[in-house]
Amino acid sequence: MPLVTTTEMFKKAYDGGYAIGAFNVNNMEIVQGITEAARELHSPVILQASAGARKYAQAAYLKHLVEAAVEATNDEIPIALHLDHGADFDICKDCIDNGFTSVMIDGSSRPYEENIEVSKQVADYAHEHGVVVEAELGTLAGIEDDVNVAAETAQYTDPDQVVDFVNRTGVDSLAIAIGTSHGAYKFKPGTQPHIRLDILADIVEKLPGFPIVLHGSSSVPQEHVKTINEYGGALQGAIGIPEDQLREAAKSAVCKINIDSDLRLAMTAGVREHLTKYPSHFDPRQYLSDGRNNVKVLVRDKIINVLGSENKA
Ligand code: G3H
Ligand code: 13P
Ligand code: ZN
Repeated sequence: MPLVTTTEMFKKAYDGGYAIGAFNVNNMEIVQGITEAARELHSPVILQASAGARKYAQAAYLKHLVEAAVEATNDEIPIALHLDHGADFDICKDCIDNGFTSVMIDGSSRPYEENIEVSKQVADYAHEHGVVVEAELGTLAGIEDDVNVAAETAQYTDPDQVVDFVNRTGVDSLAIAIGTSHGAYKFKPGTQPHIRLDILADIVEKLPGFPIVLHGSSSVPQEHVKTINEYGGALQGAIGIPEDQLREAAKSAVCKINIDSDLRLAMTAGVREHLTKYPSHFDPRQYLSDGRNNVKVLVRDKIINVLGSENKA
């Protein structure tokens, strides 16, 4: 099976009450850890590359690493290659022209009409080339606990805008803001971590059958934070999204859940622990093996306990 789009994956996920993991890839060990876990659990998977990943690894390396994963997994699982947070039409076009099967146009920081215009421009071009498009509506940001309710609500996706946005852009999935945020510091220590499943429910009511995407969905596993800190790191107050809330979202219309920070934590914990325990080691294959294995174990756990995508390939 060559790289696939997310159309079939999302349809099955929506109907089956589970979500597909969209994991950010930056190097070979991360690609391998993710896809080995997905293959063992017969789970479809989305590998996504940000602009930063393309800059770090070079676009050609990333594309061929993902193609290598398709070959190494013996075509046993559906794999999609997705552009994460495409900032404008040009980067989306470049990915569409170069083998990506899905792109995100992130116009969420632009005024509403501009977001519609650029999202539609990308959707039109992508669809002519058999590629699917994710767009975003709402502001993904950490919620400060001294922000008043009106200001807090203003950052979330407005359920009253979603039908107009989807109809006028023609995009295939919609990323929404319901209290998730990027990075490892999503909530202030001492506050109750939560996402607004009530806003998700409102959106689903307005857009029945339409695939929803959640960005910023790392749960920041505390065992990795602890290991990193034990072996020389300094991560204080790192808090993620509770996994039971992500599971609830996955049972509903959320078909794609984005995870990057947790991969970074897993990789770093493995490498830090290895280098501290074996100070004489200097072969990257030794410490990167431990990082890669941590990535694989993490992705296995996500597939089984958060996404529910096991045996859905
Ligand atoms: O949404 C952001 C992802 O975690 C990608 O991060 O831009 O540092 O590659 P990055
Ligand atoms: P996290 O930082 O929560 O892993 O979110 C990743 C993401 O949304 C990538 O687009
Ligand atoms: Zn994101």
